[in-house]
Amino acid sequence: MAKVARISISLEGELLGQLDRAAVEDGYPTRSEAVKAFIRGALVEKEWKDGGKVAGAVVSVYDHHRRNLVGRLVGIQHDFGDVIISTQHVHLDHHNCLEIAVVRGDVRRIRRLVAGLRSIKGIKHSALVATTTGSGIA
Ligand code: NI
Repeated sequence: MAKVARISISLEGELLGQLDRAAVEDGYPTRSEAVKAFIRGALVEKEWKDGGKVAGAVVSVYDHHRRNLVGRLVGIQHDFGDVIISTQHVHLDHHNCLEIAVVRGDVRRIRRLVAGLRSIKGIKHSALVATTTGSGIA
């Protein structure tokens, strides 16, 4: 286990209250665990801003009956085969499909993939879950 350092920080009472409420709402067992998670969240955000190697998932919902949609979707997935690790398809109901593309690679490539998916007419929603490969975050 990594050596733990104890630090002391000063916070205004109102900010501390907000931290503690957020920690409880988000389910963290202690203030320390909440602070660690918030720091990691900021570091992941920085990874995505700095343009390094990241990981994540792109979740899209669409009507598969929509003309040309599935062909365009599969075409884009082939174009970005270098960053798409796997896809999972779920038939939500008679019309709607949910597809998860797990991605890993260069931030700019992944953003281009997301933009490509969003450019397809008939995609009802496409959300990026931006996370980390884990190698740059303790
Ligand atoms: Ni389906």
